[in-house]
Amino acid sequence: MSDKGLPATFENPGLPPHIHRAADDDPRAAKRAERQVAALFTLSIIGTLGFIVSYFAVPNDTTVFIPFIGKTILLNILLGVTLAVSLLGIGFGAVHWAKTLMSDEEVIEERHPIASSDEDRAKAVGILNAGAEQAQLKRRPILKATGATAMGLFALPLGVQLAGSMGNPTKALEESKETIWDVPEGGKPIRLVRDVERTPIKASDVAIGSVFHILPETIKDSKHVLADKAKAAVLLMRLHPSSFANDSLGEKAKSWGYEGIVAYSKICTHVGCPVGLYEQQTHHLLCPCHQSTFDVTRDCNVIFGPAKRALPQLKITVDDEGYLVAPQGFAEPVGPSYWERKK
Ligand code: FES
Repeated sequence: MSDKGLPATFENPGLPPHIHRAADDDPRAAKRAERQVAALFTLSIIGTLGFIVSYFAVPNDTTVFIPFIGKTILLNILLGVTLAVSLLGIGFGAVHWAKTLMSDEEVIEERHPIASSDEDRAKAVGILNAGAEQAQLKRRPILKATGATAMGLFALPLGVQLAGSMGNPTKALEESKETIWDVPEGGKPIRLVRDVERTPIKASDVAIGSVFHILPETIKDSKHVLADKAKAAVLLMRLHPSSFANDSLGEKAKSWGYEGIVAYSKICTHVGCPVGLYEQQTHHLLCPCHQSTFDVTRDCNVIFGPAKRALPQLKITVDDEGYLVAPQGFAEPVGPSYWERKK
């Protein structure tokens, strides 16, 4: 006893006696556990394959009604369920394998110097081999095959999603030129309508110095209003014709407008914020996100800030009734610049 009344040393309590599991002693129980683990891994494989098939085969605009949730997109449900099956199959399979078949005997490992000798390394390899033996990898090839396949395939959904989200950059560039301002060959010019009210606007409604938030009349037929609106939003301003710069940029801006009324994409060419601030005195358009500034008198060229490209202009004119119309879509992609653009 120490002078504080505590024992000087503690008795080693030792390890509790090992309790044998059914699969340790009964080969039939072990076989049953093996089949259960293989079934769980197989379930994971089915889940992974289901995920990939759903990703490619199910359209992303098909909806289903689900009680307590309501109308929802079928593809999202399928991807969620199949990914859950895939994950749970691997998780439950691995836990069940460890609990029923892998060795559960506790071992005591003596401490030894950190640097290991060749002899120790050889011993480590021996231990790893013994571990593989204890996991019964060699004796149960079905577990090895299904487990390895389940875990190998599990990485695929991630790859598929990554590849899907990257898409084809050239196609993305082409698509960024397409907006609902595009007029089909021989089609009627599209009227400009006020954003929110959706009422058409006459040239005579636009006073010098005023600014309007504009959408194409075709927005009413859109099936994807938010996505279409995000690309087609336009700012309309009227300047005195003498305010335009006396150079090729000013001339171009004027000629694509109507009596000093000009329309430009509202989507900032930096990273896509809406350019919403018009300084009437200076004729500058300002993006509130990172302060890119565009000069309306010079075809919305960038005069300040991180944007590298002018705002695309929408060509406009008037129809027989005096309403402002766009005879064609944007001539260049709207929104942020991409790496394959020249500037
Ligand atoms: S998004 Fe407009 S300046 Fe950055």
